[in-house]
Amino acid sequence: MKTLKVHLYRKTNHSYEIHIGQEILDRMGMIIAMHRWAKRYVLVTDENVGVLHGGRVQAALEQAGLAVDRIAVASGEASKGIPVLLALTDRLTALEADRQTALIALGGGVVGDLTGFAASIYMRGIPVIQVPTTLLAQVDSSIGGKTGVDTPAGKNLLGAFHQPKAVFTDVAFLRTLPEAMLCCGLAEVIKYGVVDSPDLLDDLEEAAAGNGLREPLFLGRIVATACRIKKQLVENDERDLGVRRILNFGHTVGHAVEAASDYRLSHGESVAIGMVAAARLSERLHGMPAADASRIESLIRAVGLPVRLPAGINPEEIRSRLNLDKKKEGGTIHFVLIKKMGMPFMSGDVPEGVLRETLEDMKP
Ligand SMILES: NC(=O)c1ccc[n+]([C@@H]2O[C@H](COP(=O)([O-])OP(=O)(O)OC[C@H]3O[C@@H](n4cnc5c(N)ncnc54)[C@H](O)[C@@H]3O)[C@@H](O)[C@H]2O)c1
Repeated sequence: MKTLKVHLYRKTNHSYEIHIGQEILDRMGMIIAMHRWAKRYVLVTDENVGVLHGGRVQAALEQAGLAVDRIAVASGEASKGIPVLLALTDRLTALEADRQTALIALGGGVVGDLTGFAASIYMRGIPVIQVPTTLLAQVDSSIGGKTGVDTPAGKNLLGAFHQPKAVFTDVAFLRTLPEAMLCCGLAEVIKYGVVDSPDLLDDLEEAAAGNGLREPLFLGRIVATACRIKKQLVENDERDLGVRRILNFGHTVGHAVEAASDYRLSHGESVAIGMVAAARLSERLHGMPAADASRIESLIRAVGLPVRLPAGINPEEIRSRLNLDKKKEGGTIHFVLIKKMGMPFMSGDVPEGVLRETLEDMKP
């Protein structure tokens, strides 16, 4: 028997830059042209974003001398599925896109995940560039290479890690973002503050108190801080098997709440409720100061997100959904809890009784 080893580690470089600023489309065009990641580009967006920003983005890219086609999918989570994925790859084929083509994802997390996944499988993988337009996508989904689509059995069940060639985050896109979507992104920013950077919470509190949550300078600052935190976690754990999982703070209960509401509650609203639950569990079980848990709850309320379970979702339902996850994950529910602000840890040891009391306290 002969054994040959295929040495792959350190043979590929997945590194990339995240460019953050206000009105950076012209510079984006120049940077993409300079890097020559592809001979031609296909801008993939959704109908809302296409109408609001598609023409401007395409013009900036063409101005830089790039050949650009544009495809728009319907807006909303329903586009993150196999039928739209196949329609998208069919359109790419019809446009004669080949391995010299790169995709540019212009939109929120739905477009980013769908386009990233299409790029990861089209002709066995072509480059993708992320241009996030929601706050959630700017601080979270555009960085880290997680791509995928939902199936009827669940969210994100098919996917791939496919790091982008670059991320261009223009905070000016947020000017047109509806209030509810801004709140969803703020939930994730609060999460970064709690698990990594309490200073971010000061900034958020000040902006919420002064009606400044839409201030461009504030948004630029929190986006840059959140990207820095996410970038460091991704660098240390590209495949989400270790430290990166602290970004699931609030998501364990959050996902159960989102599913129990039949997805009527948004991801941000559900995570907000989940963060309150995680903070109260941390207080009960790990001595997190009560003042810190109350601070998290007050900030979530101040940015316009819910802090209690909505009427119609009872704590027992959340518990039974968590128990289902527990079975799937080999008998343990993993919570991200905190010892104090900025000190998160993974806990698989939350007693049933404490979970029940905490959820009971979260009734409206
Ligand atoms: N890949 C990851 O690491 C990761 C992380 C978190 C979430 N996600 C995924 O992200 C998705 C949610 O993303 P989302 O919250 O951005 O939702 P989304 O992409 O559906 O966007 C929300 C809505 O806002 C509109 N929109 C986007 N940008 C706009 C703008 N600038 N102005 C006006 N309207 C705008 C969109 O058309 C859409 O109707 C989920 O599918 C989730 O699974 C992925």
